[in-house]
Amino acid sequence: MNTELENLYFSQEDRSQVIGVGDSIKARIRDEGHVHVLALLAEGNTGDGFDSAFGVLGSVGMYLAALRRHELTNPAREERSPFPEASSLALHVGASLGMAPRFSTGHLATHNRAVAGIRKSFTSLADEFLFIDENTRGILSLQRAADAISSIVNLGVSSPVADVAFGAAKYALADVLRFNDRLFDNLGVQRFFYSVRPYYKPHRVGRQEYRGANAGDFSGINELDLLLGLCRASDPYYSQLLVDKMLFMLPADQQRLRDCMTRTSLLDELLQLAPEFSSTDWFQNNSRDFLDVCDLFGRSAAQHHDRLVKRFIEMPAATLDENKLQGITASGPPLPVLLRALETLRDLRTAADRRDIASRYPDIAKLKSLVRNRR
Ligand code: HEM
Repeated sequence: MNTELENLYFSQEDRSQVIGVGDSIKARIRDEGHVHVLALLAEGNTGDGFDSAFGVLGSVGMYLAALRRHELTNPAREERSPFPEASSLALHVGASLGMAPRFSTGHLATHNRAVAGIRKSFTSLADEFLFIDENTRGILSLQRAADAISSIVNLGVSSPVADVAFGAAKYALADVLRFNDRLFDNLGVQRFFYSVRPYYKPHRVGRQEYRGANAGDFSGINELDLLLGLCRASDPYYSQLLVDKMLFMLPADQQRLRDCMTRTSLLDELLQLAPEFSSTDWFQNNSRDFLDVCDLFGRSAAQHHDRLVKRFIEMPAATLDENKLQGITASGPPLPVLLRALETLRDLRTAADRRDIASRYPDIAKLKSLVRNRR
């Protein structure tokens, strides 16, 4: 039904026109979904285990997101969700799991379990599957990089064995670059903008409005930020972002992130060791590897902002009227504000030469100056 509606919207001259189009299909989505919601609500939160509860949260969350996408609800017009039963179900299950009461990236990406090849998606459009699959590959690769860098916490940054971990992180980050490139080349701009992205809008559950999901709602990227030292939990800008995303992550990810927030970063460790040991082989080798990992990680952040966000959000948004721009971002703030926030993250991750943010530019420059023979 979502696919049918998307094809109707997409065939219009004004593809952003949703209200008044396909009303009978919208009513079927609402009413058929409502039957499932009532049955699940009557069954209660049965404690069937994490996987089952997480699956229900994803399904009811996707139902509410679809109703939002088709304008059967809109937080700007309402003070509470017009779907109290679906809200109750989402709130009950979400609170018991320790997650936001809506669908999040895990439901469509890393924990979207295929059953005989079928997985959760809003539509059966090829561009949606491409988006979900390449996102998931990127996320899995960032998680692999984070796993590798986390292992250095136990080995110590002066260990000769750290080379294995740095090597694995480099391979994983090279994969992120590759998957981002593929997404850039193959995803249809118009289809993504008009038929996929609108399911990621903020909406109300009960009284409160919850921001949309985005591919960043997993801990791996922040583990890399913190363990490498490019972002710091003591930076109020960055820690606010961590607090805001906590409930959008799986509980296991929340735990990993909390753990990282208590660690000393590799950059800080290397800088502390530098005055005494900078000429040793281990310092030279591990610092060189560390800087290579930071380069690749920074390149992936720049690629996200300068290529993906620009091509698939900023450029198509520029063709829309002011009144239609509302609600095109997943997190809710106006587009220029969102773009500035993403730019700040890019500049932190690339350790850019900016004095107005907590960039590690001077520290990375110092380490670079100590390392001989860098490619
Ligand atoms: C077509 C491709 C993509 C587009 C257009 C896109 C766009 C965006 C936008 C606009 C946001 C801000 C959230 C919001 O709307 O409120 C965001 C956040 C984020 N995205 Fe993407 N994204 C894409 C693919 C990816 C991929 C493949 C990854 C990595 C696996 C990724 C990682 C992130 C992360 C980590 C964040 C959170 C902010 C941050 O920590 O940088 N995105 N993305």
